[in-house]
Amino acid sequence: SHESARVVVNLDLPGSRISRHLYGHFAEHLGRCIYGGFFVGEDSDIPNEGGIRLDVVEALRALQVPNLRWPGGCFADDYHWKDGIGPREERPRMVNSHWGDVVEDNSFGTHEFMQLCEMLGADAYVNGNVGSGTVREMSEWIEYLTRADDSPMAALRRENGRDEPWKVPFFGIGNEAWGCGGNMRADAYTDLARQYATYVRDHGDNKVYRIAAGANVDDYKWTAALMRGLGCLGGCPGESSSPYQALSLHYYTMTGPWADKGSATEFTEDEWYVALSRAFRIEELLTRHSTVMDGYDPDKRVGLVLDEWGTWWNVEEGTNPGFLYQQNSLRDALVASVHFDAFHRHSDRLVMANIAQTVNVLQAMLLTDPESGALVKTPTYHVFEMNTGHHDADSLEAHVVGAETREIDGRSLPMISASASIKDGRALISLSNLEASEDRTVTLDLRGAELGSVTARILTAADTAAHNTPENPDAVAPVAHEGVRAHARGLEVDLPAHSYVTVSVEVTA
Ligand code: AHR
Repeated sequence: SHESARVVVNLDLPGSRISRHLYGHFAEHLGRCIYGGFFVGEDSDIPNEGGIRLDVVEALRALQVPNLRWPGGCFADDYHWKDGIGPREERPRMVNSHWGDVVEDNSFGTHEFMQLCEMLGADAYVNGNVGSGTVREMSEWIEYLTRADDSPMAALRRENGRDEPWKVPFFGIGNEAWGCGGNMRADAYTDLARQYATYVRDHGDNKVYRIAAGANVDDYKWTAALMRGLGCLGGCPGESSSPYQALSLHYYTMTGPWADKGSATEFTEDEWYVALSRAFRIEELLTRHSTVMDGYDPDKRVGLVLDEWGTWWNVEEGTNPGFLYQQNSLRDALVASVHFDAFHRHSDRLVMANIAQTVNVLQAMLLTDPESGALVKTPTYHVFEMNTGHHDADSLEAHVVGAETREIDGRSLPMISASASIKDGRALISLSNLEASEDRTVTLDLRGAELGSVTARILTAADTAAHNTPENPDAVAPVAHEGVRAHARGLEVDLPAHSYVTVSVEVTA
């Protein structure tokens, strides 16, 4: 292998804080994410607490899940929360029209979700219904969740067995209002977002961060409409705060058209690069949506929330097309690492991101076998775990100098992706070699501090499509990386073809 690039990091120039919420999750009533994934019911043979799978919770605790978005997605704008409280056997049923047209029995509802958040140690991000719900319904939900006194909704919560109010720091004002959430035009939705958000009140000391349903991919006009809808950002006479505090954005990585998105595990070398190039497009999308927001909000008071991202492949053969169940390979792991590098660079505006979705749906962390119940950690899971050191760290710019690039889709994809952060006297440097079959060695040019102890980990496999199964659960799993040496400029790091490496360096002034 030859030296292909230098990664320059100024250890003494910390930038914006990387919110741990950039490592957030998303769980929708979709396929086997909730039912069979998180929730098996109290009568299951699978060990559970209140119906929630203990093995899933334990695996996710290693990821330090900062927040969990629920109940959708498209499902959120069909969901009526009062159907999901009270004795389970008395809960009304509904049709889940978006996802498989199956009957939903509402056995997982508000109390079950809040219990799940407590077990995970995650903040709740509840997504309300604008498309088919009322203002009153949304207003009563936040009252039910967060109010302490004997108000009607607080009393109803107590009747259902929960005395103390919960904390709900994040609330979504509908989802994909331009599509499944009501097929609205931007200005029409903006008015509704202002109206609905007004009634998502702060009860007691629960302060809600309201997230308006934002743009799809490169719909910059949608972002502009929502920013205009904020008026003077709470700065006008008589206006104490803005109606919503953030806007969302959705972007999925796929290699084919909607009708044939490509296989999760059978792909050509070309499709490998196309996927990574489309993942890297997140850099452009974050830059351009941020630029639109800067025009209205130069002080960056309004947050950008990428509350759906990840790969979207064809479903696995023999599974329900509406359940979006897909395998997850080393390629997905590198799609994730490329996203995280961009997230770290944009942490001044990007305040939260949520992978779609945590279990058994799209780019999942965990897959559960429908027959045996066996749990598998995906390559993507391992990237999340390897990156926990970036949570709430200060970003450091990582300048990649001299990396080869490939031209794909009219975009230039650098073959080395990198980002860095510093926390508690250690720098964490993320390095991805996107070459399908070429090993590389990079120089880590670490400036501005003395270096102490170094540890490194690597995630790779012989094959770009390697993935984990119940029979072979650790085909892709991180191990200690031996290929790190001292160098006059800092360190020299071997990056085998298609690998993800994290280097943790002790930093002394
Ligand atoms: O994550 C799957 C779906 O993708 C969500 O329900 C929806 O918001 C998006 O279109």
